[in-house]
Amino acid sequence: MAKRYYITTPIYYVNAAPHIGHAYTTIVADVLKRFYMLRGYETFFLTGTDEHGDKIVAAAKEAGETPQAYVDRISSLFRNLWPKLNIINDHFIRTTDLEHKKVVQLILERVNANGDIYFSEYEGLYCFGCERFYTERELVDGKCPDHQKEPEVIKEANYFFRMSKYQDWLINHIKDSPGFIRPERYKNEVLSFLSDPLEDLCISRPKSRLDWGIPLPFDDNYVTYVWFDALINYVSGIGFPDGELFNKFWPYAEHLVAKDILKPHGIYWPCMLKSAGIEPYQHLNVHGYWNINEGKMSKSLGNVVRPLDLVGIYGLDAFRYFLLREMVFGLDSEFSEEALVGRINSDLANDLGNLLHRSMTMVQKYLGGHVPEKVDPQPEDVGLKEAALHTIDQYETMMEDLAFHKALISVWELIGRVNKYIDTMAPWVLAKTDRPRLESVLHHIIESLKIISVLIWPVMPASAERMQQYLGLEKTGANLILDDVRQWGRQKSVRAIVKGEALFPRVEMKKEMPHTEEEKPMEEEKAQLISFNEFQKLDLRVGTIRNAESIPKSKKLVKLTVDIGEDRTVVAGIAGHYSPEELVGKQVVIVANLEPAKLMGVESQGMILAAEDETGIYVLTVDKEVKPGSKVR
Ligand code: MSP
Repeated sequence: MAKRYYITTPIYYVNAAPHIGHAYTTIVADVLKRFYMLRGYETFFLTGTDEHGDKIVAAAKEAGETPQAYVDRISSLFRNLWPKLNIINDHFIRTTDLEHKKVVQLILERVNANGDIYFSEYEGLYCFGCERFYTERELVDGKCPDHQKEPEVIKEANYFFRMSKYQDWLINHIKDSPGFIRPERYKNEVLSFLSDPLEDLCISRPKSRLDWGIPLPFDDNYVTYVWFDALINYVSGIGFPDGELFNKFWPYAEHLVAKDILKPHGIYWPCMLKSAGIEPYQHLNVHGYWNINEGKMSKSLGNVVRPLDLVGIYGLDAFRYFLLREMVFGLDSEFSEEALVGRINSDLANDLGNLLHRSMTMVQKYLGGHVPEKVDPQPEDVGLKEAALHTIDQYETMMEDLAFHKALISVWELIGRVNKYIDTMAPWVLAKTDRPRLESVLHHIIESLKIISVLIWPVMPASAERMQQYLGLEKTGANLILDDVRQWGRQKSVRAIVKGEALFPRVEMKKEMPHTEEEKPMEEEKAQLISFNEFQKLDLRVGTIRNAESIPKSKKLVKLTVDIGEDRTVVAGIAGHYSPEELVGKQVVIVANLEPAKLMGVESQGMILAAEDETGIYVLTVDKEVKPGSKVR
């Protein structure tokens, strides 16, 4: 088997803005992708939006927009959110994409050619919220259990998919393929459902009632039922039928969903695949629900938690850590801000943050930042090394089993163990009495920290990478894989550095729970937009740096003479990142019509544009040398 991994999230309905439920699934998928990257797998991660059907038409109407304008707007809320949560999906699919529509029609044709579609008059109980017919047996007190509404009786001639034909095959497949639906409780739920005769699936809607959908290729008076359309995204998104990605990744498909959509994924989808002659997916991984105050999160209750609010207050990695550490995969969890704050202060600020800080300070103070490679280990040191290496194996097994909380617990056990080792070894005493022991102890601490940094990377990528920079590692992030740290001491520390700021500062509980209804983020997004006219007011120019000199007494500032057709003096805060010699001759982008300002006694007549991330500041430059003073548009 090739080392490949294909992970999907549900494609989210665009009838509401993203909340922590969507964020959780997508972050879990991201963590899994990153974990498999660390194991040297080739990975593909697909997410997207589900944009057809009654629900969407109703939401667009309520918003006073055309369906197309509405789906474009909400879909981009999802698409734009993911990078802010450090999600590295490889593709974002929309069911309104032309390519997807073609694949849905192709599969409908195949299923039809296989004799699995028939036309029939049907009268049934229909829930508009769920967009599906209910059987009497499924109703609770005559109502749809999800929407608490009585379904309406609808009589329609429609197309049906002969799902019943695949019932026995599916039961056997579930029984014969361990973990096909996991955890076990959801497999049992599906099997229990399959113990009664399976009804065929109505897969069309007459255009007279709904025209926002994909037309059936064999009858233009009908559009495709939204679930039959949506599930197909998992293959259309990687180029079914003969795209390279499809051939490469479909045999490794892992779906990730919450329990609310178990039935379409556990029953409809495998039957659809079978009928279309496509191999079933590998695993359906099902998680529970995040609840608030022991109830469901819902727009009408006004208790929807928006991820960016929390990220803004507590930081992205703390938020990601909390979601993965708190929920037992498969079970429901209660979301509370108190619990989030508790975890940040105890696990992140106290345990990990302190460990890193005290270790780095000692390496700096006693060894000038140089971690010794050759040491003479004593039994206590060997004990720590073995525990650290054992943690990698434990972590891998637990991550494979989707037991994220256990994987993190095992990392935190190691963190606790290193903290205890420091207390017992007391390097501050060894520093005065026994230099070789000091070196061995610090070596073992730093090597353990390297392992910890790699193990936390899938969950907290930015913090792990900062940690790896502090540790002075040449390889960081996705380049530093599990095999690298499995070999103790192989990843050399070039020079460990101490940073003043804590990796995870302590936080306090904010008084107000940051939840609001759905409309707010959209208004905020609008408020941040500027018109083209406003943008045109900026006079951006390319300039060549003719001269650069540091400004006495300033660590950050450098005085530049920039030629933009005329010479401008510009003061820039990049001294720590570039030497004056490096800057001379570079072409940079400057804001030429900025009000002059005095900085450390020097008048700056413009501003240089630069990008900043945690590794440094980098000036913006052009792809090819241009005439000084050229306008940037
Ligand atoms: N469009 C369908 C999915 C089609 S997939 C072919 C859909 N969309 S949805 O917007 O309702 O998303 C449902 C999914 O969002 C859940 O399965 C889960 O992944 C996530 N969650 C939504 N609310 C959630 C919680 N309260 N808790 C955890 N996850 C939740 O269904």
